[in-house]
Amino acid sequence: MPEDFPSLRESLLAARHVVIFTGAGVSQESGIATFRDRTEGLWARFEPQELATPEAFDRDPALVWAWYEWRRGLIAHAKPNAAHRAIARMQQCLPRLTVITQNVDDLHERAGAENVLHLHGTLAAARCRRCHRPWQHSQVQPSAAAPTAPLSPPDCPHCGNHIRPGVVWFGESLPMATWEAAAEAATDCDMLFSIGTSSLVYPAADLPHQARQRGAMVVQVNPEPTALDAVAHQSLRGKAGDILPTIAGLCVS
Ligand code: OAD
Repeated sequence: MPEDFPSLRESLLAARHVVIFTGAGVSQESGIATFRDRTEGLWARFEPQELATPEAFDRDPALVWAWYEWRRGLIAHAKPNAAHRAIARMQQCLPRLTVITQNVDDLHERAGAENVLHLHGTLAAARCRRCHRPWQHSQVQPSAAAPTAPLSPPDCPHCGNHIRPGVVWFGESLPMATWEAAAEAATDCDMLFSIGTSSLVYPAADLPHQARQRGAMVVQVNPEPTALDAVAHQSLRGKAGDILPTIAGLCVS
C-alpha cells in the first residue's frame, strides 16, 4: 500500500475537485454496524423487507419506528472516528471537496464536514408520511444491543398521519436535488474516493462509474474486495480509520 501513495499525492495536489463517496464502512469504527457484514451486519440480524420498505411501515409502523429510533440512539451515542475527521480536514485543505454519503448518520458533519450530500436521507430528518412536513425529534433512546419493544410513531401535528423516519427505503426514489448534485459532482471531479461501501446498491453505486467514465481517478478504500474492484484505478485494502489520516496528510503540500 505505501508504494501507491506518491502518485496519490501528486493527483490529490493537482486535483481541482475531489469527491469523497462513503458507505457504512466509514462509520464501522465508530461502532455503527454495516449492512452486509456476514455476522454483525444489520441485514444479517434483521429482515429488510420487514423494516425498510414503505409497505413494512404501513403494515407495522410501531415495529419500524422502534427499529429506526434504536438506530438513531446508537448513532447519537457514537462519536466520529479518525476517517470522518480526516475527510473533514481534507475538505479544509483542498480547493474543492464534495462529500457524498449513503449513510443516514451525522458523523461526517459532527467531524466538521460541510454540505454533505445524504443520498439515502438522514435519521434526523423525520417527516410526515402523508403531508411530508418535517418533524423535530425531542428525545433519543438509550444505546441498546437491539430494539427492546415496539414504539408507536408520533402523529403529525398538521394532518394527524404517522411521522416516518427520514430515510430512503427500498423501492423509493432518492431525494432528487441531492441525487442531481451528487451526479454533477461525480461527473465534474478529477478524483473520487469510494470508502467503506460494498458498491452494490444502485443508483448510488453508479457514481464512481460515472466519475471514471468522465476521466476521474477512482480510488477505493475497503478491507474487503468489492464490486468496484474492476473499475477503481487503485484499491487500498484496509480500514478507513487507518488509511484516511494518511491520505489527509498528503493534502498538505
Ligand atoms: P454495506 O454493508 O453493503 O458495505 C459496507 C462496506 O464497508 C463493506 O464493503 C465492508 O467491507 C466495508 N467496511 C467494513 N468495515 C470497514 C472499515 N472499517 N473501513 C472501510 N470499509 C469498511 O454498506 P453500504 O455499501 O453503505 O441503504 O450499503 C449501501 C446501502 O445498502 C445502505 O445505504 C443501505 C443499505 O441497504 C439504505 O438504507 C437505502
